[in-house]
Amino acid sequence: MQFEDIFLQSVDSTQAYAKKNLKSFDLKKITCIVANEQLQGKGRFDRKWISPKDTNLYITFVFTLSTKTLHLTSIGHVLALSLVEVLKSYSIDSKIKWPNDVLINNKKLAGILCEIITKKDEATAFLGIGINVNMEEEQLKKIDKPATSLKEETSKTWNKKELLEKLKLEFEKNLKIFKEKGFVPFHEKFENLLLYIGDKICFFDGENKYTGTLHSITSAGELNLYMKDKTMKTFSAGDII
Ligand code: BTN
Repeated sequence: MQFEDIFLQSVDSTQAYAKKNLKSFDLKKITCIVANEQLQGKGRFDRKWISPKDTNLYITFVFTLSTKTLHLTSIGHVLALSLVEVLKSYSIDSKIKWPNDVLINNKKLAGILCEIITKKDEATAFLGIGINVNMEEEQLKKIDKPATSLKEETSKTWNKKELLEKLKLEFEKNLKIFKEKGFVPFHEKFENLLLYIGDKICFFDGENKYTGTLHSITSAGELNLYMKDKTMKTFSAGDII
């Protein structure tokens, strides 16, 4: 699958831009929208994604999948794994916080926003990722949760373009596998990278809060929470809080 690249100097959100301009994209390709700055960067659960100019990567990938693809809602996990692999090629160890945050030393480096629109037998994925690349300490402090950047972790300025190209290649390779086999081929690797397995966690599914032990991940990429009453609850969306 080829990429169609769109570079924007400044935009409200690459995610919003993607939805507005969907009709002009060639859906046989992966459209890769990258902005140098977002004025209204969007996070999950309507949170803000702080997106200053010149510093970080703000990307939305747009592509189609068959609605028959297994485990569709876990495509964001595959993008997180792709980033972990790219970082590994630079000898950087990162972990995943379910569903698909990428963390270094327990601080958030990247977040993923996965929105899927289904029409007949075709699903269009709007897969957004924000990666804190060259963000300085002062700006990182403005984020309401512990956050880090590659610059902060390695004390050097990163080449955003090089990182972007590596991520595109890795994701393209993994997307091909996902389209054929769903999440199963990624399951073991993903579970091994997961933070808080075996720990007591507080979980929010968008409506209710639950306390339990993070037991495991299903082969579809869902989270298994072992409850106090010894039952297992399985979630395909939500957040560890
Ligand atoms: C999260 O962790 O809450 C998800 C953050 C996703 C941020 C990215 S940046 C590129 C794309 N455009 C947006 O407005 N959001 C996503």
